[in-house]
Amino acid sequence: MAEQKDVLMEKIVSLCKRRGFVFPGSEIYGGFANSWDYGPVGVELKNNIKQLWWNRFVHQRDDMVGIDAALIMNPKVWEASGHLKEFSDPLVECTECHERFRSDDPALLFAHVQEKHHKSIQGDRTGTEISGVAFGFTPPKQFNLMFKTFIGPAEEQTNIAYFRPETAQAMFVDFKNVLDTTRRTLPFGIGQIGKAFRNEITPGNFIFRTREFEQMEIEYFIPVPANDEDWKKYFELWRKEMISWMKDDLGINIEHVHELEVPDGERAHYSKRTIDFEYDFPFGKNELYGLAYRTDFDLKNHFKEAPYRDAETGEGCWPHTIEPTWGVDRSILAVLSDSYTEEEERVYLKLKPKLAPYKAAVFPLLRNKEELVKKAREVYENLHKKFMVAWDDRGNIGKRYYAQDEIGTPYCITIDFDTLEKGDVTVRDRDTAMQERIKIEDLEKFIASKLE
Ligand code: GAP
Repeated sequence: MAEQKDVLMEKIVSLCKRRGFVFPGSEIYGGFANSWDYGPVGVELKNNIKQLWWNRFVHQRDDMVGIDAALIMNPKVWEASGHLKEFSDPLVECTECHERFRSDDPALLFAHVQEKHHKSIQGDRTGTEISGVAFGFTPPKQFNLMFKTFIGPAEEQTNIAYFRPETAQAMFVDFKNVLDTTRRTLPFGIGQIGKAFRNEITPGNFIFRTREFEQMEIEYFIPVPANDEDWKKYFELWRKEMISWMKDDLGINIEHVHELEVPDGERAHYSKRTIDFEYDFPFGKNELYGLAYRTDFDLKNHFKEAPYRDAETGEGCWPHTIEPTWGVDRSILAVLSDSYTEEEERVYLKLKPKLAPYKAAVFPLLRNKEELVKKAREVYENLHKKFMVAWDDRGNIGKRYYAQDEIGTPYCITIDFDTLEKGDVTVRDRDTAMQERIKIEDLEKFIASKLE
């Protein structure tokens, strides 16, 4: 079973490279550990996910606004947010080869000792013994995950700044500016999509854990709760929204998603309650998204004076925050894993048409028949004004279908000799491989109806 999962992961990584979803970063220089570049179809999938998210959670809601903040913020932000002190993972070093690992992943440590040093280990794979000296690792020490840089030409202590490890802080820091310019009243949220950076000790599993990644985050501000029920009701609303996003927007089989209530002692320093949404990735179950109740922790740390004033009573307060957070790259990996389908003769990505890089592909039946190519170009150019549409005239039709299936194009449109006489085309459905004839003038409506 574990082998099967590894094979699936290899197949996905290989398809991503072969078809232009994701390439190894800086490949011609031998790569750059755990950095990945999104290729021509990968960037379309990524943008489609981000646009869907922005539409759903910012444009279509009255209680949301968006921002796009600077990546490098004043270092005081990270002091106030607690990241300078608290944002760390426990690090251990192998005493034999000096490779470094997070000590909170015992399975990884077991695998390292067994596979690299050919030693067998007795003991509890989930327990803490593994991080002790007895098993060949140094005692754990805390390693801060923030990426440091220097502002300006002098590399001095006073010029240190950090690449943001989460987009969230900008929503707290800009809270008053947003309020003053939009006159929002509680409850309301601020959303943002952008890059975040973490100097992960053990990145890996393709785009699952990288040092540079993208987040889609919401800080949802609620009135100061009088009791637990007051914040729990918003927490529950966002829990449902996140499930609906996975099911209805990403099209993920929800049986592959599991909710994990993060216990006391394991939550981030700012959270009073956290649910991790775990997904059955090919390499095993792991965190896809998170939902946290950050209380008034962040606003209290950033604002000495109450940043919100009740319009009626004039009373000042520090609103509390519910934070749903989504990783863009993990969304892509979950969507690819969920949509990867093998049939006897073919492989296809069963992507929702909204997510598919191309909504349709247009082919002339034969590339050496001028009249077919001319008509096909006409169809292609008209559709291309409205949708992302691919053109392909290489090889035979079978090979073109195969290539489009692998990038998840839901419809392939072929212009043949009948088209010239009757004005209709063959439309082949990716999932069923069934074909139907559709009039050229109805194609636009047909594709649009599949994107609703
Ligand atoms: N603002 C809260 C926060 O950043 P997090 O659980 O640390 O919470 C949120 O990160 C999401 O960002 C995760 O659920 C995951 O989807 C994504 N993420 C975190 N670290 C990542 C990494 N190293 N590589 C890729 N995605 C990551």
